[in-house]
Formats: sequence, C-alpha cells, structure tokens
Amino acid sequence: LVCARESVMRSIFEVKTVERTYPILCGEDVLETLQKLWLPRWQQAVVIGDSNTARLFGTAITQALNGVAKKVIMLSFPAGEEHKTRATKELLENSMIEHGVDRFAVVVAVGGGIALDVAGYVAATYMRGIDSVYIATTLLAQVDAAIGGKTGVNTQHGKNLIGAFYQPHFVLIDIPALASLPEDEMRNGYAEAIKHAVIADAELFSGMEAFAKNKEKILPEPLLARCVQIKAEVVSQDERERGYRQVLNFGHTIGHALEKASDFSLAHGSAVAMGMLVEAKIAGKLCGFPGADRKRLTALLADLHLPVQPQYGFSQIKDYLKVDKKTRGGDVYCSLPTKIGQMNEAGGTWAMPVPISVIKDAFEKPE
Ligand SMILES: NC(=O)c1ccc[n+]([C@@H]2O[C@H](COP(=O)([O-])OP(=O)(O)OC[C@H]3O[C@@H](n4cnc5c(N)ncnc54)[C@H](O)[C@@H]3O)[C@@H](O)[C@H]2O)c1
Ligand SMILES: [Zn+2]
Repeated sequence: LVCARESVMRSIFEVKTVERTYPILCGEDVLETLQKLWLPRWQQAVVIGDSNTARLFGTAITQALNGVAKKVIMLSFPAGEEHKTRATKELLENSMIEHGVDRFAVVVAVGGGIALDVAGYVAATYMRGIDSVYIATTLLAQVDAAIGGKTGVNTQHGKNLIGAFYQPHFVLIDIPALASLPEDEMRNGYAEAIKHAVIADAELFSGMEAFAKNKEKILPEPLLARCVQIKAEVVSQDERERGYRQVLNFGHTIGHALEKASDFSLAHGSAVAMGMLVEAKIAGKLCGFPGADRKRLTALLADLHLPVQPQYGFSQIKDYLKVDKKTRGGDVYCSLPTKIGQMNEAGGTWAMPVPISVIKDAFEKPE
C-alpha cells in the first residue's frame, strides 16, 4: 500500500475485506501503475479480456507486463452476456493449463463487468485460487462491478447463479479507456452512479445534475471517484451482503423484474432507471421519500437519456418479482431511500417488505 500511495494515479480508495485491505486507484497511467504495484511473486501473468477489450487494450498491457513478469499470456472470449458462462470459464482454464500456468500466476482481468466477473471467477478456482487484479474499462465496471469481489457466470436458469466472493489484489479504474466506450454503455454506468448518489450522497446527486446539464462527454473524475468511494465503503462495511450492502439494490428489485420481462433485451441501466423511479414512488408511500426528490430523479435520468416511464405494466412483471410467501398476500423486499442521499433502515435491515398491492399501485396509479 505504501507503493500504492506513490502511484501516479490520483484517487485512491481502500476496500477492507476479511482477507485483506486493498486499493482501488483511479486515473490515467494504468500501465505504469500496474508495473509499480506488481508483486515479485507474480512470475506469470494471464491477461484475460473479452474480444473487444483484448483488441483495444491487450497488446499495450501484455507489452507493459513483459518487463515485470517472466511469462505473459493473453486470453480472450467473445464479448456479450451469452458468453458469460461456465463453458467460457472451462475454455479459459483449459488454455491456462495447456500454457503451463501455475499457482503463482496472477490473472489480469481487463474490461467491463463481464470480463471482470468471468476472469475473477477463473482466478477464484484455478488451482484452488490464484491472485487477480482488475483493470476496469467500462463506466459500469468502474463505479460498480469491479468493486466488491463478486465474481461469477450465468446459467440458462438465471444470471450470476454460479460464482464466488473473491477479492482482487488491486483495482485500476482506467479513465482514458472510456474514450472508446459507446454511449449506450456509458448510460448503464450513469444509472449506477445516480443510484450511488441516491443511496449515500446528496452532493454527488447535485454534481450529477450539473454534469447532465453541461453535456460533457465523460463523467468528471471527482464524480467518478466519489462513486468508487461509495461502493468501496458499502462493501467494506458488509462484504458478504448480510445487511448494509443491500442498499446497493435500490432500483434493482423492480429493475430485475423489468429485465426479465423483457427477456433481457432491456439494457441494465434502463431497467435500473425505471426501477429506481418505481421504487422512489414506493418509498414516497412507505418511508417519506419527498415528491420533490422524485421529480429531481426523474429529470436527471431524462437529461442523461435514460427512460423514465416503465416500458412494462405490472401484469407483465409481477411473475418475475421474488415474493416472500410467509406474509399474507406476499411481500417483496426493496431497499428504499428516505430522501436523496439516505437509505431507510429499520432494525439493522436495509431491505423492507413491500406489499404486492403497493407495487401494483406504484405502476398503475398516477399522481
Ligand atoms: N461483480 C459485481 O459486483 C457486478 C456488479 C454489477 C454488474 N456486474 C456484471 O457486469 C456485467 C455488465 O458489465 P458491463 O456493463 O461493463 O458490460 P460488458 O462487460 O459487457 O461491457 C460492455 C461492452 O463494452 C465493451 N467494452 C468494454 N470496455 C470498453 C471500452 N473501453 N471501449 C469500448 N468498448 C468497451 C465490452 O467488450 C462489451 O461489449 C453483467 O454481467 C453484470 O452481471 C457485476
Ligand atoms: Zn446494477
């Protein structure tokens, strides 16, 4: 960590986990920082990206690593959620075995949430676990997926059903990488950044409003860094999602149901945007979320070209809600804000039971 402080990257945050505390660094000089933070025991490096990130960043990274590791190999798999599978993991593992990768190797995961989740999971189980480091290249990965140690793959029965909590040794937030990121992908990151603001920081919310009005192309670093810090702090308090980490689910209870109703044709950011607005309405009813705050949330999402009207009705999503059958009529657990910057807590739990009828009203009753 002394090393991390001397790094050329500007903002540094810590994630505290049961295993160890490690840094997240945001800035521009990813390759230099990667070399500086390299551990002598990492004699072999396995760079893993999806087809896009391997093409965009693979050569520069492998070249930078040739100076610090004895052996560097680059592996990739086709981009897209449909390739975030056990089959892909197996192909990667087979290549690693064939290349003679041993248990002192490190996986250098490069990309968005998919590449990091898959490569992180490969590291978690290869020879019972080898070290990993992350280079996050999508805004969504930078503010969300790269932080917190959740790794895994999808199955035909659902997303992220197989995986492990496995923390990397450090995370690099590659800001210049965003220059090539398509606008649609950027929006997925905006939705999560706005979520972070609602759950923890009214000032960040105002910053996001200013950003949305200024029409800058890339989220200014102080805002991005604050998002990183919020996620790092939440995870540090509750690594395994026993309680507080549930706040990160704001917008996601309804958002996931919308995604499933669309058979995943809906972008995650769009689903979360609509999910946050429906849940904000529910929060207005159950825990005092002010109407004025919901108006600001609607305006901010619209300014960033995220959808503000649910594209599916209650009848289309209701079968996709996780209903707790223990209560009469059935409840659905939601993490709800009391105002912009603060989440509702009741007796050490941050997810409250919401009667199905209240969800139905939030979809169907105008006001
Ligand atoms: N582990 C977690 O805590 C966590 C949290 C949130 C989401 N996720 C997972 O993250 C995944 C979504 O991540 P995502 O939105 O980053 O998607 P993604 O990884 O598919 O990246 C989006 C697209 O952008 C491309 N890309 C990546 N970086 C680029 C760059 N700099 N320039 C141009 N193109 C680039 C990718 O190849 C891909 O085609 C989901 O599978 C989700 O389950 C995980
Ligand atoms: Zn999300």
